[in-house]
Amino acid sequence: MKMKKLRLIVFLGLAISINVIAQTVKTSPSQGQNHPDMGWWQEARFGMFIHWGVYSIPGRGEWLMYQEHVPFTEYANLADQFNPRDFNPRQWVAKAKEAGMKYVVLTTRHHDGFCLFDSKVSDFTSTKTGAKRDFVKEFADACHEAGMRMGFYYSLTDWHFPGVLPQGYPLSKSTMKLLVDQAHAQVRELLSNYGVVDILWFDGLAPNDPVGWRSEELLAMARKLQPSVLINDRSGIPGDFATPENHVTAQTTPWESCFCMNRTWGYAKYDRNYKPVHELLRLLVSCASQKGNFLLNVSPDGDGILPIEQAEILGNIGKWMKVNGMAIYGAGPSPIIAANMGMTTRVKDKVYLLIQRWPGSSVPLAWCGSKVKSARLLATGEYARIEQKGDRVWLHDLPELPPDTYLNVIELTFEGVPKPSEPAYR
Ligand code: GLC
Repeated sequence: MKMKKLRLIVFLGLAISINVIAQTVKTSPSQGQNHPDMGWWQEARFGMFIHWGVYSIPGRGEWLMYQEHVPFTEYANLADQFNPRDFNPRQWVAKAKEAGMKYVVLTTRHHDGFCLFDSKVSDFTSTKTGAKRDFVKEFADACHEAGMRMGFYYSLTDWHFPGVLPQGYPLSKSTMKLLVDQAHAQVRELLSNYGVVDILWFDGLAPNDPVGWRSEELLAMARKLQPSVLINDRSGIPGDFATPENHVTAQTTPWESCFCMNRTWGYAKYDRNYKPVHELLRLLVSCASQKGNFLLNVSPDGDGILPIEQAEILGNIGKWMKVNGMAIYGAGPSPIIAANMGMTTRVKDKVYLLIQRWPGSSVPLAWCGSKVKSARLLATGEYARIEQKGDRVWLHDLPELPPDTYLNVIELTFEGVPKPSEPAYR
């Protein structure tokens, strides 16, 4: 009987904590709030997420401590082993650039509480354990050197903190106070010691109590220290952008979908369920065509090396972006759609057809309210012969088979601005 009760309590505790973390995903930024300039971010559309920490050594994902219920005394050994000789943030940044990504967000501290930076308020840091290095500093230097926009992911919750696990939530008042003080102090450190920080990416608001976390004060401090920093929506109060996770859900305010390449954020050598490149490109276009950003995750191993599959995927995405990136950067919804063939984006006055189902040498378009002046297939640079009758358009003399194996893009230039027909397609 007692055992049953205990199991129920443990189960409920787990369910509540997973739920509170999941809840944070649902908070979205408020309308009409004074956002710092988001121009560069809206232009970027594509960024790299990096999940990396001591959990990358065993390689069973970043939730390992919780999921395997590892006591801190045992988990702490990982920090002593953590001495990644191949850590080279310049290579990560170069890889992001190669893929066409315009910003990189690193987990400076995940839910396990291990800091990749020097902190006066914690001993569980990479500067005070095995490596004796400030990885955030090295990462920040690499980003600044390369002119890469830089983001810090920071988990508010900290499982290693005395009193947080294994008792779980709700936390005692005194534990909560110490935990919150620590988070405020560390956010201050992160925003004071590493030059310009472009993005602050909160996570892990557990318990889900923005008042208890003093989130208003936290954001005010962040904006004071880094006036141009963009802050996400996971501190329990509205931020500058929303963060749907592993799904694309367009919002009316700025948003960014973050995705795993496989199914695990942190390094997991057994997880080889990689999404194919054409699927990742579909997700990227799906975000860009709805005015959203796509933050694609990589998971370096305990030595700091990117799994070969991930490096290859980034390389292939990069090749595609080099030729077709103009359909993505600064993109938003197009007034002209091509539902029979795939997706469309609009960048300034150009419309891009991102054709997933290549119809052959003649591409039929419809519901077009403006005259099409020219149509260029980006993969080969060739121009189509245009035939237009009212709102119907045919692009002739194109290749019978799609030249790009992933996704083919045709750039349309109009006389005047691109307009849908009247009435428009619904
Ligand atoms: C969740 C998970 C976490 C991951 C994050 C990425 O909150 O707890 O492991 O870092 O989402 O969005």
